[in-house]
Amino acid sequence: MAKNIKKVNNVSLIVFYDPKGKIMLQDRRGHSKVGEEWGFFGGHIEEGETPEQTLIREIQEELDIAISDYKYIGEANTLINNVAVNRHVYIAPIGEKEPEINLKEGHGCKFFTINSAKNLKMVPGDEKAVELVGESLEKLMPDLLEKSIEFVDKSFGKKSPHFERALYWVKILKPDADEALQIAAYCHDIDRSTWMNSKDRPAISKKLMLQDLEAIREHEEHGAEMMYDFLVANGADESLAEKVRHLISRHEEGDDDEQNVLKDADSISYFETNAERHIAELGTFTFHELKSKTDYMFNRITSPEAKKLAEPNYKSAIEKLEKAAK
Ligand SMILES: [Fe+2]
Ligand SMILES: [Fe+2]
Repeated sequence: MAKNIKKVNNVSLIVFYDPKGKIMLQDRRGHSKVGEEWGFFGGHIEEGETPEQTLIREIQEELDIAISDYKYIGEANTLINNVAVNRHVYIAPIGEKEPEINLKEGHGCKFFTINSAKNLKMVPGDEKAVELVGESLEKLMPDLLEKSIEFVDKSFGKKSPHFERALYWVKILKPDADEALQIAAYCHDIDRSTWMNSKDRPAISKKLMLQDLEAIREHEEHGAEMMYDFLVANGADESLAEKVRHLISRHEEGDDDEQNVLKDADSISYFETNAERHIAELGTFTFHELKSKTDYMFNRITSPEAKKLAEPNYKSAIEKLEKAAK
């Protein structure tokens, strides 16, 4: 033992995680050893035991379950006040609800996001294990962009090229686009999924086609709320969910720089994927209504770069419209 180490504690611990990446911790209030409020399941490695044997024994003792589906992710070791604690860390998947477990120790358990767990009162050094678990889960869980894409595709019942291209163009216009901007790019029109198969569709799409500001706001803000709710329910940080809400809430009108990037990408994608379909609605809409919509989608673009990218398809849309109207 090194001179400055008075004592070495070897422990095995396990962190259960739900499908959203939240982790289950043990409520230690009322019987804590050093003032901690939350802790892990697990315990001291006894002489002659392997860390894994300890784990299985402790979980049997504490939770009355025989675990089998678990994974070793590494050690989180600390040296605090000359006491070394070597934590052998395991993780295991669990359902979304607090499991029906027979808690033999502690008062109960609760799920936390990794970030909220970092702020809990735990035994000093335990935050190292939380960090390690966070790193592992990040690699293990589908990320929020992936989940959001899946959510949108399911809501529409198919993949939409318009969303794929909006995401593509956001990354061209802003190569360092963060997760929130990328999610907003793919999901900006989620509101449409709620009325596309309803009897209200003709009325709503007419208002949007005619650039009715009230309808546009409703479309922007309803979609923004939907994505906010989805992200929070899927374990996103409040700040990420809030940013996506903010971005989508002005994706048609634009306002700040990133809302403008989203709006510009939406327009470029519109001319690639939707403009011709709209022109085919000549008859339902007048030439002037369709021309006004086409012009609006082009003129609202903020950045000169985006204008250049959209221009060829914009011009060809106008030509096709004029031809169709003849
Ligand atoms: Fe939109
Ligand atoms: Fe769009």
